[in-house]
Amino acid sequence: VTISRLDYQPYPYLLPNVELEFDLDAAATTVRSRLHFQRKPDAPEQALVLDGSELELVSVSIDGQVLNADQYELGSETLRLFPGSAAFVVEITSVCKPAENSTLMGLYVSGDSLFTQCEAEGFRRITWFPDRPDVMSRYRVTLRADKSRYPLLLSNGNLLHGKDLDAGRHEAVWEDPHPKPCYLFALVAGGFACREQQIRTRSGRQALLQVYSDPDSRDKTEWALESLARAVRWDEQRFGLELDLDRFMVVAARDFNMGAMENKGLNIFNSAYVLADPESATDASFRAIEAVIGHEYFHNWTGNRVTCRDWFQLSLKEGLTVFRDQEFSADMLAADLPEAEARSARAVKRIDDVTTLRIAQFPEDAGPMAHPIRPESYQEIGNFYTATVYEKGAEVIRMQHTLLGEAGFRAGLAEYFHRHDGSAVTCDDFVAAMESVYTRQHPGKDFEVFRRWYSQAGTPRVRVEMEYDQAQGRCTLTLSQHCEPAGIEKLQTPPAPKPPLHIPFAIGLLGQDGRALPLAHDGQTRDTVLLELVAERQSWSFDGVPERPVPSLLRNFSAPVIVEYPYSDTELALLAGHDTDPYARWEAGQELAMRQLLALVGAIQSGQQPQVDPGFVHVWRTLLEDRTLTPAYQARALTLPAEKILLERTSPMDPQAVARARAELRSVLGVELGESWLRVYQACKAERQEYRPDALQSGRRALKNLALSYLMAGAHTQAPKLALDQYYEAANMTDRMGGLSALVNFSDTPAAAQALGHFYEQWQQDPLVVDRWFTLQATAPTTTVETVRALMLHPAFTLRNPNRARSLIFQFCINNLQGAHTPEGYQFWAEQVVALDRINPEIAARLARAFDNWARYVPANRDAIRQALETIQSHSPLSRNVSEIISKALKI
Ligand code: ARG
Ligand code: ZN
Repeated sequence: VTISRLDYQPYPYLLPNVELEFDLDAAATTVRSRLHFQRKPDAPEQALVLDGSELELVSVSIDGQVLNADQYELGSETLRLFPGSAAFVVEITSVCKPAENSTLMGLYVSGDSLFTQCEAEGFRRITWFPDRPDVMSRYRVTLRADKSRYPLLLSNGNLLHGKDLDAGRHEAVWEDPHPKPCYLFALVAGGFACREQQIRTRSGRQALLQVYSDPDSRDKTEWALESLARAVRWDEQRFGLELDLDRFMVVAARDFNMGAMENKGLNIFNSAYVLADPESATDASFRAIEAVIGHEYFHNWTGNRVTCRDWFQLSLKEGLTVFRDQEFSADMLAADLPEAEARSARAVKRIDDVTTLRIAQFPEDAGPMAHPIRPESYQEIGNFYTATVYEKGAEVIRMQHTLLGEAGFRAGLAEYFHRHDGSAVTCDDFVAAMESVYTRQHPGKDFEVFRRWYSQAGTPRVRVEMEYDQAQGRCTLTLSQHCEPAGIEKLQTPPAPKPPLHIPFAIGLLGQDGRALPLAHDGQTRDTVLLELVAERQSWSFDGVPERPVPSLLRNFSAPVIVEYPYSDTELALLAGHDTDPYARWEAGQELAMRQLLALVGAIQSGQQPQVDPGFVHVWRTLLEDRTLTPAYQARALTLPAEKILLERTSPMDPQAVARARAELRSVLGVELGESWLRVYQACKAERQEYRPDALQSGRRALKNLALSYLMAGAHTQAPKLALDQYYEAANMTDRMGGLSALVNFSDTPAAAQALGHFYEQWQQDPLVVDRWFTLQATAPTTTVETVRALMLHPAFTLRNPNRARSLIFQFCINNLQGAHTPEGYQFWAEQVVALDRINPEIAARLARAFDNWARYVPANRDAIRQALETIQSHSPLSRNVSEIISKALKI
């Protein structure tokens, strides 16, 4: 069944109060609910429909009258009741089975503990309920369990009391004063260690921040707790949003489908985004923890205080909250740095976010699952927690920030809360609040065109033409936009027209010597000007331009679009060396590398000897030797475009040629710049300070590890020894992984195998580090399906733990082009999708998307993937999750 956005109907009943009682037990948990319903004044008398899944019904009553089986209708997914009055109390007793629940939605077991995950539609696996975000209630929750097995009983809100019961059992009663939809409900039961901190919020309120983990991991929760305290402070300072709770808890779970969940006052996290210390976690993990802690905390306002009316509005909270966590991370990276370094640190974060968008979202927008950030329809909402809803959604918020400016955006956000605090609203409500500020700033203008970002899928292309009139000193830029049919739109003939979007397009001009040419625009003179493209084609002229300039386009990636401009290689090299916008400067270098890589792909495909342009090597050398750049920025500037990004640029897509081309260029750069890499490696190596994952230190480590990988790729004589020494002598996981991955990815030697064995011996007790061990092998270029099958037999492997399944199976299928893009690779993938679907449909559906864009591959791969897709489809029953993905893939 397909659910459509425009079919939304309000729920006919209010449910102001909910009381829940749990008798917790892993095998069978009994849930008793008391639901105080009131029919809405404008709603006619009608049945009460509740959602439920995989539940056993024990009894149901209305106003104390137990119902007989002929007084209700029990379907496989619903319970229908027929209340005789407008206000009534429903009491339901039901049983669910946490230990048998491998989907990790609803109430489930992880380790020796019990956890819940309710977003999007998990609450119906706990009890029959109106499982939709526009029904908001106050919850009072009683938890009972065996005290020795489950010493800690947590739920949302405030602990009213705890007491011991008979027979070794105990009870805790929690009350959440904030009305919430059921997807924000949570409970946790088990034995945990806690790290906590009291804080005083801006208005002087005391609040308790707590991070719970399994007892052995308590020494790894310091960074998470510090990050939480920083997030609280940041949201006050940057957006004036204060913590509204007396107690804010974070609990780490080893088995978790996604990153984390923003349950009101009781966030539940994948342990990968909580636990870290320098010995076991990399710089990237530290930053990811800070980002996810921030993300979930920021949901407390953007998601919880104001929530979504229906799941089509998911980007209302996710796009906005990703934008907020991106800004938080950027501010934290830049904190305490001098201005130039701070600017560079922010650019690095921007570069990383754009890279994520291009790796994950651009391909999605160009494939069978393409959807607007506010989808029009779905079969399974779990399939729409996508890069489009999250990352492109964040770009759409960022464009509003760019158009309004920081102060204007902040005013718009204040207006949004003023209008909607405490309610469940739509994306359009958000845009309307922002638009009110925009219209105040620009009388007569509105967001009518901007709103189309919410309803249009596909990555727009902006073509730029430049004319220069020497006599007048006038430079004219003409921008035109165009967006191809995306996803199912491709099946429509003729394709529906796509009206133009409102695109904020930041530009600058450089002189032929690389200096910035100031631009006169709107009565001001500046280096960067924001053009607002709102029509199919528009022109802007700038006077007083003394020479034919080189345009610097889409500065800071001001819109999620693809730019087309016929740069010469010389112009790109100029931008890569001199652009004053650090993002655009990086982009120019990447574009040059892309041209080089595409040329190599062409050569490989036609069986010619691949040749690398010395001009390109020179650009790389200049970047490598530029001492004005921060190490973190240099590391990004000297990294070749990811295979995934390159693959999207080949047509038809040729994964084997892409992998070879990138490896070839890396080794040429390793050889040609060998002595420079060595110098940079040695210069970055001396780190005498105590470990900190900050911009400077992590930048040095990133550059050092990049240098090491180039040295290995170029088969520098000293490289294997450097890698081995770095591996065995490392004082932190970033360096240790840098050494080990250099060995494993570039040399198939006994020393590499020995180091891998040593690593497992050392770290086998730490699941998150064992995940790294699997990932490293899954993505090594020499790894084949046979290697992966052998690793699946390792005692530490299991499909049931999502992190472990991702570390081996997903990493191989998604990130190992050489190994996975083979007929055996595709069949292996199909097998694993089917196997996972029996355990965890949500995770299976993610793996099912590994080759979404199969129809654009070279014929041999295309046909083999089609067969694999058909293999999956021939298995029944498939979950709704996987079946939606596979049927859409096969339709294109
Ligand atoms: N709201 C969570 C977050 O982004 C994601 C939860 C999604 N859960 C799921 N089972 N799909 O912070
Ligand atoms: Zn989120």
